[in-house]
Amino acid sequence: MKIIGFTGSPRREGNTAWTIDKILEGAKEKGAQTQSWYFSDLDIRPCGGCLGCHRGDHDRGCVINDDMQKLYGALKEADVLILGSPIYMGQMSAQAKMFTDRLFAQISPRFSPHFKESAVKKKLILVFTQGNPDSAMFQVYIDYTKRMFELLEFDVQGVHVVAGMRNEPARERKDLHAAMKEIGSSLVGT
Ligand SMILES: Cc1cc2nc3c(=O)[nH]c(=O)nc-3n(C[C@H](O)[C@H](O)[C@H](O)COP(=O)(O)O)c2cc1C
Repeated sequence: MKIIGFTGSPRREGNTAWTIDKILEGAKEKGAQTQSWYFSDLDIRPCGGCLGCHRGDHDRGCVINDDMQKLYGALKEADVLILGSPIYMGQMSAQAKMFTDRLFAQISPRFSPHFKESAVKKKLILVFTQGNPDSAMFQVYIDYTKRMFELLEFDVQGVHVVAGMRNEPARERKDLHAAMKEIGSSLVGT
């Protein structure tokens, strides 16, 4: 089983990266093969809206030749995807949104008839970290985002909100260590 984490924060050592790394650690201990991608290290440009992916203008799918091409490959290999983002102004980060928009080129045969193999529903776990201690503060947005990924034909298996980062960073929160690893281990064999 291959589980791939995508950290949609500009901070390579931030709360979101730490949280996803812990989830992957739990999964790895249960025998999963894991891989991590950090958008802070990658050149992912915004969708240009050219619809070249629909027309099949390029055999790689999306016509933009940037690091998203590596991620398309990773998406195909994964059994479970974990997408994490900090909450910025009540929503996912710009980095996570650019990644999400670029899924247009490949993830659903409804949008991109050239990639029929992507029709297989991928399991997806969403992770949000936020400064505010109330984990329900952005519930409307979180529910909407889950629904949006389901419409993109992902099988959203869990949504985890790690709140209160303005008081204490994730890595210093002792309660989170075991809880995040447990989320990871529970993914193995699903
Ligand atoms: C530009 C910006 C906007 C933010 N907006 C919110 C917000 O609307 N609500 C909130 O609870 N936290 C907000 N935060 C705090 C981050 O969500 C929080 O610190 C998060 O854990 C950062 O993740 P990272 O360490 O992975 O970058 C914001 C932080 C920044 C830098």
